[in-house]
This record gives sequence, C-alpha cells and structure tokens, in this order.
Amino acid sequence: MTRRLHIKTFGCQMNVYDSARMADVLAPLGYAATERADDADLVVLNTCHIREKAAEKLYSELGRIRRSKEARAAEGKTAMIAVAGCVAQAEGAEILSRAPYVDMVVGPQSYHRLPQLIAEAARRDPSNPSGVVDVEFPAEPKFDHLPPVRHRGPSAFLSVQEGCDKFCTFCVVPYTRGWEFSRPVKDVLDEARRVVDRGALEITLLGQNVNAYHGDAGGGAEAGLGGLIRRLAEIDGLKRIRYTTSHPRDMSDDLIAAHGEVEALMPFLHLPVQSGSDRILAAMNRRHTRDDYRRIVDKLMAARPDLKLSSDFIVGFPGETGEDFDETVALARETRFIQAYSFKYSTRPGTPGAAMPNQIDDSVKAERLLELQAVLDQNQIVFNRSSIGRKMAVLLDRPGRKAGQFAGRSVYMQPVHVDAPARYFGRIAELEITDAHANSLSARLAGEEGGNGSHMERAFA
Ligand code: SAH
Ligand code: SF4
Ligand code: F3S
Repeated sequence: MTRRLHIKTFGCQMNVYDSARMADVLAPLGYAATERADDADLVVLNTCHIREKAAEKLYSELGRIRRSKEARAAEGKTAMIAVAGCVAQAEGAEILSRAPYVDMVVGPQSYHRLPQLIAEAARRDPSNPSGVVDVEFPAEPKFDHLPPVRHRGPSAFLSVQEGCDKFCTFCVVPYTRGWEFSRPVKDVLDEARRVVDRGALEITLLGQNVNAYHGDAGGGAEAGLGGLIRRLAEIDGLKRIRYTTSHPRDMSDDLIAAHGEVEALMPFLHLPVQSGSDRILAAMNRRHTRDDYRRIVDKLMAARPDLKLSSDFIVGFPGETGEDFDETVALARETRFIQAYSFKYSTRPGTPGAAMPNQIDDSVKAERLLELQAVLDQNQIVFNRSSIGRKMAVLLDRPGRKAGQFAGRSVYMQPVHVDAPARYFGRIAELEITDAHANSLSARLAGEEGGNGSHMERAFA
C-alpha cells in the first residue's frame, strides 16, 4: 500500500540530511513523498531550536497542519503528525501539551525508530490519545540502524559527525543533539561511494562541529577530518568535497594542509567567528581570540591562496559594548568574507547566556545588526562583481527560475543562473559570468568541463 509522506524541514543542513534519512527509514513501509501536507498520511516537521523564531515557526506550522488533519478526518482519512528535530528534543512531551493533536515527538538521535513509533501511535487507546515521545540518546548510534541512503542526484550531504560538547554559552546544540560523535571512516566511505554511484559529483560533509571529526579508521587508528577528506578524494568520480560547519579551534594543521593538497576540496570555507571582541569571545566560551582567528585565516590562505571564507556573527550578546561591537565590524571589514550570516543574539532557555546580566535591548541589537550587515553585504557584492567576465565551473544541480534555465553553485557557493540545454543538468559546466546581483550571478555557457573547475578559480588568488 502506498502511503503519502510530507516532510517539512527547518534549520541547518544536518536537518536536511536527517529528513532524507527519515524518508529512507519510512520507504520500506510504503511511504512515498508528497509535496502537499494536506495529501499526506504522515506529516513530519523536522524542527530547529537555534533561535526563538524557530520554535514559533513550528507552532504556527502545526496550527496549519492541524486544520488539514481535521479536514482529512472529516473525509474519513487519517493523518498523523510527527514533530522531529531539535525542538522535539528540547521540548519533548511539552509539545504534546501545547499541541495535543501531535501523534509523535521524535528526537534527532532516535528517528531510526520511527516505524515502531508509528505502530505504537496507531495502537493508542482512543480514550487516552496522548502522543508517543522518543527523545532518547540511544547508546547505539542511529547510523547503525539506518538503511542505505536512497539519495540520487549531483550533490549530496553526508553527516559524518553529530553533536557538540563545546557548550558555547549562547547555544542549544549540545542539549538538542547530544555529545560529540564521529562515524567510523569505513561507514563514511561506504556511504560516499554509494552516493557517487547514484550520480553525486559533490559531497558536503556535515557535522555541528564537523572539523572535530575523529572517526575510527580501523586497526585502533583514528582519522581526523583532513585524513577523512584525503580518503574520500580517492573515490573515482567524486569531483567536489566540502564540509560544514567548522569551529576555529578544530582547524588543525593537518586539515589546513589538506586544503593545499586535495584538488577536490573546494577553496571555500564556512568558519563562524561570532564576534571580533576578545572579551565577548571569552564570555561566549569560544575559547579563541580574534588574533587566533586571524592566524588560522592566514595559515589557510598560505595553504590555498584562492580560498574564500564565509562566517556567522552574533550581535548583542550579553554585555556587548559599543567598542566590542566596533571590533566585530572591524574584523568583518578586514577579513572580507564573501558571504556571511549575522544574527541578533537570541536568549535560549537553559543556556548560560540566558542567565547573564547586561542583556542588550532589542533596539540596540537591531541597530548593530543593520550596521554589520551593511559591511558584510558590501564585501559580498564586491566579490560577486569581481566575478563578472570570469569563467567559473558551476555544478548545475537544480532547475532555474525560468524554463530552459539551470541553477548551480560556483566553487565559492555563489548561486549561478544560466540558460542551458537539458543535457547540462547534473554536470560541472564552464560558464562565463555576465552579471552579478546581491546574492547570485548570471552566466552564459562557455564550454563543458571535465574537472571540478578548481584550477580556473586559481585566477582569483
Ligand atoms: N557549530 C557552529 C554553529 C552552529 S549554530 C559553530 O560553532 O560556529 C549556527 C549559527 O547560529 C551560529 O554560528 C551562530 O552564529 C548562530 N546562533 C547560535 N545560537 C544563537 C543564539 N542563541 N542567538 C543568535 N544566533 C545564534
Ligand atoms: Fe553551538 Fe557550535 Fe558552540 Fe557547539 S561549537 S555549542 S554547535 S556554536
Ligand atoms: Fe537548528 Fe538543530 Fe541544526 S537547533 S541549526 S536544526 S542542529
């Protein structure tokens, strides 16, 4: 029997990966994906808890889904609702009291048990219809129980590391994802070969702290992320390797060296800095200084001169003064990130930051955010404009906005749009950039590319 499954994903790429894996777990039960929540026998909301708005989004989404569940019930059809992801982990049974029509709450480390949970939820006593909750951190990692990936396509995510034990004082991730864990090298290589066999030219290795990776390499040995990347680079047909998200403290010399040695490793790195003030970095428990960050960037540039960086920033962390903030702006200006995310500090219950004195007014946060974003946007547009007239290798992995158009990513993760015949889909094409916008580039075909395009971008160094 075919059943319809609708998964809506919030949050980071790890949630995107997890959503695909939940679909993999449910496929043997006959669940096939549908785009429409009101058609679905099972709706899964894969949630994010990183900032306030994330949980609010969940509850407003749940309100909508409740209406479609009721409409289906009126037609004699069922619709189960599952809340998964980081809000599920953080709030657990609390979700059932706020939204009693939810059938299942399942955390990011226990979703391999969805089939049992669905069975349990279906068996509930109608007189006591409370939903089922599974937010354990099982001793045996979920990866040991997941079926092989079914992903097919030119670009694939691959989670290699989960959880975090850094406990930055603003962050919920250590509480929602649990302790740091790395998948064994062999598991990662098997999954990588499988997605490459299924058409992937690009793999993005994922982890909340991906460069803290330290996986079992067999024979009592351990591999760091640099070692893992070198092994992955041996896979025939894998042209592009990326990884995200990294912590500056785990940017080891070996990993930095890999940037210079491994041709498939893209010359682009997302390396969140959060603040340019040593005082605030210490209060955030980042355990590095602004100069440490600069030194890491210098070493990376020495290893791979054409490397470009993106970053994350938080403004208005408790106690942040005007001078602290100015140091952040100065760092943003001098480091010339080609892309960046910046956020107003959001108080997360249960984190040390929430209990700190000197919380900053929202109006001040808003002002600082605007000022920082102006600098970051300027860096981005300057870089995008410098791309005009250049040839770039772009992996065309999705349809474009208009018919006959494809979109893809440059080695620097810039979205690029191009008119191209259908056979270009899933290829790395050589494009000439014709126009630059704030967040994307336009291009025309300039030829076809066999390699990963890395050599062409060396011109940017
Ligand atoms: N592991 C990564 C970050 C993962 S969370 C690292 O260590 O850098 C992604 C981003 O969300 C963070 O880099 C941070 O900029 C932002 N973020 C996390 N918690 C936040 C909070 N409480 N308020 C505002 N932004 C936050
Ligand atoms: Fe959160 Fe990243 Fe800090 Fe871990 S290292 S606590 S995920 S910000
Ligand atoms: Fe959000 Fe969880 Fe990712 S809190 S950012 S979905 S790890």
